[in-house]
Formats: sequence, structure tokens, C-alpha cells
Amino acid sequence: MNDFDLTIRGGMVASDVDTFRADVGIVGDRIVAMENGLPAGRRDIDATGRYVLPGGIDTHCHVEQRSGMGRMGADDWYTASVCAAFGGTTTIVPFAAQHRGTSLAQVAADYAALAREKSVIDYSYHLILSETDPQTLNTDLPELIRSGITSFKVYMTYEQLKIDDYQMLDVLAVAARERALVMVHAENNDVIKWVSQRLLERGYTAPKFHGTSHVQLAESEATHRVIQLSRLFDVPILVVHVSAREALATIQAAQKMGAQVYGETCPHYLLLTEDDMDLPGTEGAKYCCSPPLRDADAQQALWDALKQGTLQTLSSDHAPYRYDATGKLPKGDATTFKDVANGMPGLEARLPLLFSEGVSKKRLTLPEFVALSATNHARMYGLFPRKGLLQPGADADVAIWNPLCEFTLTAATLHDNVGYTPYEGMSVTGWPETVVSAGRVIVERGELHAERGSGRFIPRKTPMPCAIERELTPSTRFFRSLSYGAHEQK
Ligand code: URP
Ligand code: ZN
Ligand code: ZN
Repeated sequence: MNDFDLTIRGGMVASDVDTFRADVGIVGDRIVAMENGLPAGRRDIDATGRYVLPGGIDTHCHVEQRSGMGRMGADDWYTASVCAAFGGTTTIVPFAAQHRGTSLAQVAADYAALAREKSVIDYSYHLILSETDPQTLNTDLPELIRSGITSFKVYMTYEQLKIDDYQMLDVLAVAARERALVMVHAENNDVIKWVSQRLLERGYTAPKFHGTSHVQLAESEATHRVIQLSRLFDVPILVVHVSAREALATIQAAQKMGAQVYGETCPHYLLLTEDDMDLPGTEGAKYCCSPPLRDADAQQALWDALKQGTLQTLSSDHAPYRYDATGKLPKGDATTFKDVANGMPGLEARLPLLFSEGVSKKRLTLPEFVALSATNHARMYGLFPRKGLLQPGADADVAIWNPLCEFTLTAATLHDNVGYTPYEGMSVTGWPETVVSAGRVIVERGELHAERGSGRFIPRKTPMPCAIERELTPSTRFFRSLSYGAHEQK
């Protein structure tokens, strides 16, 4: 076949297990051929000296969403998807967040409309559940899962979103029945609340006390607890934004025991520490996220966990709050650590940071980078094999990386709406120079060539962990059977 719309020739291709030379032939939105010596298509990209990799998938980013603290992020679907594209990510999966008293079905419909109008790249979204009433659990959630929204997040902390253990069991039971993946923000709310209150009473208000209040054991206790709850039904869960050695050890031990627990971490936990919160005045607010930044020991444990497969995905947890009254500093200079919007931007920098600190510094192989940036996300969230791997039949989502390109990260050169980057002035080696989304060259020579609303909604299949057939013990079968029938309200 020599009738390609687009060819990418001369580059080094990588999958999650292998690196090999191949040309890529694309017709329309799909890859149709991958072999050496393909003829040039109507449009040809010379990828000599470049890595030709699956476009990144970011399965944890907050876009046009109100947070657990009630704060609205600064990026909408347009700016967020543009950031993603420039950073080598071709699919994003943010969150449609149900705040209390709202209908999950309506929340999802409203969110879908925002995405449809603005996203420049393909997308899906997860749900965030804060209600466990019969309408949500018996009707809206199962229907949304069946329509291709096959994962959702729950919070064990944040007053506005958190669910208690009883509700968690209800939610886990539905996930087991409907084969959806539950993402868990695991921190013990009462520990954080108790310590925070005592610190504030004593006048300890600076951003660095955010780290003190979100003590490691709050994370590891909640991680342990939700894993135990998931074992009642033998249902897979994914612990998001794992930050600390203790939580990691908890996950590792559970995995050894056969529990179906998966995990994610984020670039900021690998590259920044609690010292970054300890800046003059309120400056440290830029580095407040939950769980908080930890220390060099945690960083090493997280790199090891990515390498060993304890954690499967590296996501941005892009939570774009400006350093002003709309975001980080609602009370100006009087803002205490308890008022600071939690989270930091990272959609665009995620993959350049992982490539530079991982591949260029030889902590990770190229296939490991591909797994953590794309393939594992596709498998974990039901996008595989359409996305996450370059092969005939897959969507033509490609990031062409120049491994030698040096780039300095600054707020001015990134494309988000946040106004600061936690990585200001940091130099990275390796950059996704050219980005192809569904066969369209959307980023080239630093310019965007994609229209608002040109991204497509991708219905997702059953996540890989939920598709695994496991022999259930009699007790698991029994507890699952108790969850059938109408859900009583607590
Ligand atoms: O601090 C964070 N991570 N903010 C974003 C919301 C969340 O919990 O993921
Ligand atoms: Zn979270
Ligand atoms: Zn998050």
C-alpha cells in the first residue's frame, strides 16, 4: 500500500516492551502500516534521530472542574487540551465532579458538552462521586459506566466530597458488579483536620504546615483502609497520587497478598520536596497539593516503584490554581495553609519531565517511559488497544521526540492559564517536537494546528483490571450477593 495520508519515516519506534526501527503509515485517523521502507505518503515527516512514541495519555488531570475545596481551576477544556498537546499528550481523561445535591447524570451531560465544544485532542472523563443515594448508585452510575465512562474517583478527605466507609462499601459493590475502576484519594480526613486545627490555634499558618497536617500516616492509614474494604468484594482499586514510602509499602504488601490494588504517582512527588513549601510569605502556597510533597527518601521509593511496577501510571494531577485570590490565595496575605487551593499545574510538563529525569538520566528505559506515559493508562482505563500503542489499527496518536532538544521550563513558555510553574527555570533534555492526534499534525515547530472542539469523545471499554476473571472465594461471592437489590440509604 502506498497511498498514505501521512508517513513518519526514519525514526526509532518504542512500545512498552520494545524499541525498533519502523516507518509509520497513516490513513485518516488510523495507523495502517508499520514497517521499514514504507513509501512517502501525501505528507511525510522525516523522523531521523527522533523517537516515535505513542501520544501520551493523562488519566488524572482536573479541567474546568470545581475542587473538593469548592475552588474552580484556571484551565478550561481548550487551554488544558492545548497544554496537553504541546507536552506530547494526545488523550486526556479529567473528571466530571458530582458535588453534593447534584445529579450525576446531569453533571456528566454538562461536562460532556464543555469538552465537545473545546477540546483539541481526544478525551474521555472519569466521574467523581460524592453522593451514594439510590438514583446515583442504582441508575446514573451504571448507565454512565455502560456508556463508556468506566472509572470514577472517590475522596476519603475534603469535607465537600468525602465519603465514609459505609458509602465506600456501597460504591465498591457497584464497581464490582459493573466492572468499573475505582480511583481513590486516600487520606484520613480526621487526622488532617485534627492536626490542622491544633496548628492554626497555635498560629502556625504558613504554607509549610500543610505538609505537617497531611502527615504520612494519614495517607498510609487511608490507603490500608480502602484496600481492606475493597477486599470484601475482591474489586480492583487504583490509589491515585501516591506520595510517600509508607503508603507505597502498604500497596506493595497488599499486592503481595493478592489484593487487586494499583497505583499512580505524579511528577511533583518525584522531583519536588516539602522544602519547596517553605518559602517566604505565602510563596510556598504554589507547592501545596494533597497528599503533600514529601522528601528525598520518598522520591527514591517512588522511582523504584515505577520501575518495579508497584505503580502503573504517571499522571499530572494538573490542578491549575492561579497564585491569586481566585486560586491559591483566597484571603490574600492572610491566607492560611488551610485555605490554600490544593494542587499544581503539570499537564504540559508531565512528559518532558518524565523523559528528561527518567530516560535522559537513565532512571527509565524508553519502553518504561512508554508504559508509564501511555500504554499502562490505556490498559488501566479501557482505552487499549485503540490508544496507548503504535500498531496497525490503532488511532494515529504519535509524539515525535527529539531526545537531544534542551528546553527550559518557564511559565511564559507553557500554555496553561495558571501564571506560574513549579518547575520555573528547570532545564529538560528531550522534547516532543511534533505531535499527531488522530492523523492530524497538531503541534509542529512550536505552533498549534488544531481547532477548538476538534477532539473526539472516546467511549472506554472495561478497564483491564476489571476484565480479569478471578475465581471468587465463597465469602467474596456472599458479600457481593448482599449488594444486589435496592441500595438502602444510610
Ligand atoms: O492537591 C491536589 N491533588 N489537588 C487536586 C485534587 C485532588 O485531590 O486530586
Ligand atoms: Zn486527589
Ligand atoms: Zn487530582
